[in-house]
Amino acid sequence: MAYNLLVYDTKYGSTELISRWISEEMEDIEVKKPKEIESIKEYKLIVIGSPNYDDEPLNSISQFIEKFKEDLKEKKIAIFVVCNDLEEMEYKGRRVGGKYNLEILKNRLPVENIVLEEVFGGVLNAKILDDEDQEKVAKSFSEIGKVIKKEDLIFMPVMNKLDLGKCKEFAEKLSNL
Ligand SMILES: Cc1cc2nc3c(=O)[nH]c(=O)nc-3n(C[C@H](O)[C@H](O)[C@H](O)COP(=O)(O)O)c2cc1C
Repeated sequence: MAYNLLVYDTKYGSTELISRWISEEMEDIEVKKPKEIESIKEYKLIVIGSPNYDDEPLNSISQFIEKFKEDLKEKKIAIFVVCNDLEEMEYKGRRVGGKYNLEILKNRLPVENIVLEEVFGGVLNAKILDDEDQEKVAKSFSEIGKVIKKEDLIFMPVMNKLDLGKCKEFAEKLSNL
């Protein structure tokens, strides 16, 4: 039986790929989406991974944390966030970036149980975004003075910050916990 559970969700696939890369380096881990999880009682370590959208983890991840908040108090927890801004920075008077995303996730969890945390780069490919997300990306460009039409986003280069080596390192640290 697996001792560890990695729970993740994704909108466009980066967090799924990262979760797979991590789990492929480990022998004793199950990888599931929140909707597949009935109970977490049998696991020792819970790894939680989510991208951020509009300064929030994905809803399904927030709901998972809320649903199992009592059980999580009894578990070792590791977390990772997936984003494009790996470094923390100021954007229009607010903090953005990986470290900030970690804090947002941590605020929902029993912090004293968190034994490992990491920020991973993901992929932002404007071509595959749904209509609403393309709208948001175009708006965020215009807010920084770069007017770009939604239909022109298909010419935007793919931002790919995936890092297999970093996933392997994280998996090794998880295995040594
Ligand atoms: C509409 C939209 C909103 C986003 N909002 C944030 C955000 O608030 N903070 C952040 O760090 N990244 C944000 N991102 C970047 C995504 O988190 C990043 O592309 C991530 O790799 C997506 O992961 P996924 O492929 O697993 O869904 C946003 C991306 C889109 C398209």
